[in-house]
Amino acid sequence: MGIAERQDKPCEKATQTPITCQEGSHRGAGLNGRKYKGFFVLTVGVTYGTHSSTGRADQVRHFDEILRERVTRMHFFRHRGDDLYCEEVSVTRIAEEVGTPVYIYSHATLTRHFRALDEAFASVPHLICFALKANANLAVLKLFAGLGGGLDVVSGGELFRGLTAGVSPQRIVYAGVGKTREEIAYALTSDILMFNVESDQELRRINEVATELGRKARVALRVNPDVDPKTHPYISTGLKQSKFGIDIDRALEEYEAAKQLLALEVVGIHQHIGSQITKIQPFVDSLTRTAALVRRLREQGTNIRYIDIGGGLGITYNDETPPLPEEFAQALIGVIRDLDATVVLEPGRMLVGNAGILVTRVLYTKQSPVKNFVVVDAGMNDLVRPSLYGSYHAIWRVHRAAGRDEVTVDVVGPICESGDFLAKDRVLPRFEPGELMAVMSAGAYGHTMSSNYNSRPRVPEVMVRGDRFTVVRERETYADLIRGERTLEDLG
Ligand code: LLP
Repeated sequence: MGIAERQDKPCEKATQTPITCQEGSHRGAGLNGRKYKGFFVLTVGVTYGTHSSTGRADQVRHFDEILRERVTRMHFFRHRGDDLYCEEVSVTRIAEEVGTPVYIYSHATLTRHFRALDEAFASVPHLICFALKANANLAVLKLFAGLGGGLDVVSGGELFRGLTAGVSPQRIVYAGVGKTREEIAYALTSDILMFNVESDQELRRINEVATELGRKARVALRVNPDVDPKTHPYISTGLKQSKFGIDIDRALEEYEAAKQLLALEVVGIHQHIGSQITKIQPFVDSLTRTAALVRRLREQGTNIRYIDIGGGLGITYNDETPPLPEEFAQALIGVIRDLDATVVLEPGRMLVGNAGILVTRVLYTKQSPVKNFVVVDAGMNDLVRPSLYGSYHAIWRVHRAAGRDEVTVDVVGPICESGDFLAKDRVLPRFEPGELMAVMSAGAYGHTMSSNYNSRPRVPEVMVRGDRFTVVRERETYADLIRGERTLEDLG
């Protein structure tokens, strides 16, 4: 059963005393309009129940479960009657006006997630540097900048996007193992906050370029703490065998070397151990190691003003239960509070993941002797995560037509590869050609990882705010596909 189908049913444990949760309040649980662990409870039109027989303690525990589920899944995509809405706008209407496939983002969801994290870290000086590799649309970048956010960039192109969106360079940090001379020069002349340096050679290269430009480069060393984040191997970055960062045991030496390089100013330390991490312990373990290093560096007179704890906090795609921002913040602040440094965070997925959906139209249904296929107009070039990582994305019907039986299907795209699927062996209500499907939690690493494979124009992005929507990136045209190409005849 998909999340959509679960979502609008009363809680299975309900026996009596239904409790209706509404935006900004949680009636019946003593949480009326108040915050729960730093969040306003948002559960529009959903009815839950409690165990009357098991007493108050169980009730409270049960609410805790419900609220955790609601909070971690919290977003503004929901069915009204049988039709899916993003905030106040019908998804069908967007699909009809803009066409499919289309990415749709919810402004209110993006804002809510940013604020939740910001509030969770309110007790310490901090800077939220959104990792725009997750979602690079200018409208998204501008929104976070307006809330006080900065950026974590990993290329000259990302820096360009950030500056174009009006993000202050003083709030931009720059990581990545392969920064080129040109990219370093661009970041230096833009006067970014700091480089997160990934090797001794890079340290020297930054020093060289800064010397040539007559500038001082602020640097942090990205340490590799050798902690297993227990996530997909492709997105684990803090293990010894990974290409990222500088071995934590060699870091003291590298800091000493950095201090000798005259065009560098050592200002911080950086770690990022992986992505879609759903347990708190790997973060605590790695930050504990990093914090120990900071203490030793301080003893040796190296002033670490910024502790960049990276990104990586996971979201609920299926049944994961990642820590809430407040739990995450409390655990990590506990490790470094005494260090009196500015905490830099680099969240990507947790800010944008469930704030976006990919809407696609069913083209055909077909059966092989052993499989049912639903062929849709979005493919792995539009959303590669299922093909690349075997990732799960919930599938919702945009319009819930009544009386459909459930079938086990593969949802596949038009790309000429067997690896082109959005869902495999999924039990879904039967879809018919022409119907719309929403691929949920596609706001992170969706459009940014899309490509023109099979010469398919990249799909548009739409931002919904309240009862209005705007196309924040146009659908590419066939002319866009060949822009910049030449044939040999053009040479004359
Ligand atoms: N900081 C650094 C240095 C990173 O490399 C990343 C992600 C982040 C922050 C943000 O991580 P997040 O908070 O989003 O987990 N394409 C993959 C994810 C790749 C993550 C790469 N680095 C996916 O679709 O799951």
